[in-house]
Amino acid sequence: KNRILSGIQPTGNLHLGNYLGAIRNWVALQEEYDSFLFMADLHAITVPHDPKSLAEDTYKVAATYLACGIDPQKSTIFVQSHISAHSELAWLFNCVTPLNWLERMIQFKEKAVKQGENVTVGLFDYPVLQAADILLYEPDLVPVGEDQKQHVELTRDIVNRFNFQYGSEDQPVIKVPEPMIQAAGARVMSLTDGTKKMSKSDPSEMSRIDLIDPPELIQKKIKRCKSDPVRGLEFDNPDRPECQNLLTLYMILSGQTKEAVAQECAEMGWGQFKPLLAETMVAALQPIQEKYHALMADRTYLESILREGREKAEAIALQTLAKAKVALGYSQPL
Ligand code: TYM
Repeated sequence: KNRILSGIQPTGNLHLGNYLGAIRNWVALQEEYDSFLFMADLHAITVPHDPKSLAEDTYKVAATYLACGIDPQKSTIFVQSHISAHSELAWLFNCVTPLNWLERMIQFKEKAVKQGENVTVGLFDYPVLQAADILLYEPDLVPVGEDQKQHVELTRDIVNRFNFQYGSEDQPVIKVPEPMIQAAGARVMSLTDGTKKMSKSDPSEMSRIDLIDPPELIQKKIKRCKSDPVRGLEFDNPDRPECQNLLTLYMILSGQTKEAVAQECAEMGWGQFKPLLAETMVAALQPIQEKYHALMADRTYLESILREGREKAEAIALQTLAKAKVALGYSQPL
């Protein structure tokens, strides 16, 4: 079986972008692929965080994975910080990664602007840790949303350089993965600005739909979300980014084709479309929310899943780490 690996940072509630850009695709992929899915809690401290909620937020993401349909019989679910090989391989990769590769990272530049004086070495080094996360499990594919593509490309550059420097020509030390970006939902946009992506770090809660938002809040957010003064709704008009985003959400959540939605909504005004979208969203999220709340109430079950996941993941991670250390010329620990 081919393997996939992906993860999400436990910083606040997950939103519709995380679901449609990532988790939803994993649910489909786990049927065919050996799947490794984790909570990136080491990444979560690259910007200021609250120690009081880190552990709880990590459980919340695990419960969200399961509630969305990740099946622990088919997928291995684990916590990044529980497996110290992630940090260790990141250090080894730090020493093969040229500084200027990291200076090019778009997400770093965006986040650094927001952090001002408080930019840490960790925020800068974040993509190298992500490379370690991925390469420890030697996956074939890394299913992520569009915004993570550059990080997966960097991971490929790092492993190619590592293999070139420390492997033999016909024997790469570590397998080179490919990004996998599903077309629909790869970039869910903000509800208050159709040209910006939906993001956990947007200060306005009205800009995103969290997966656990109650129905009334979803209705309110959709009612108030940005639209435009044009009557009749259409896909692919670059002057109407909000229209594109909301129609796409409706298409995915209602399970219809683009053609069917284009036809259904061609003559609609916003006053008719928004309640339809809100209703569709509430219906799609309701079963996820029910499962989520039940899972959060059963800590023992969640813990057992994460314990099992850790055992399985760590066995593989340690093998890859050992290979990397041998290639670098380290002696065996005595
Ligand atoms: P994170 O936590 O920001 O996002 C998790 C996943 O959700 C996707 N995503 C979106 N997709 C569509 N539209 C949006 N508006 C949207 N917002 C987020 C992201 O593309 C991602 O797939 N660095 C990663 C976490 C990570 C990781 C890894 C991922 C750490 N190590 C190894 C893959 C492999 C991150 O911060 O994702």
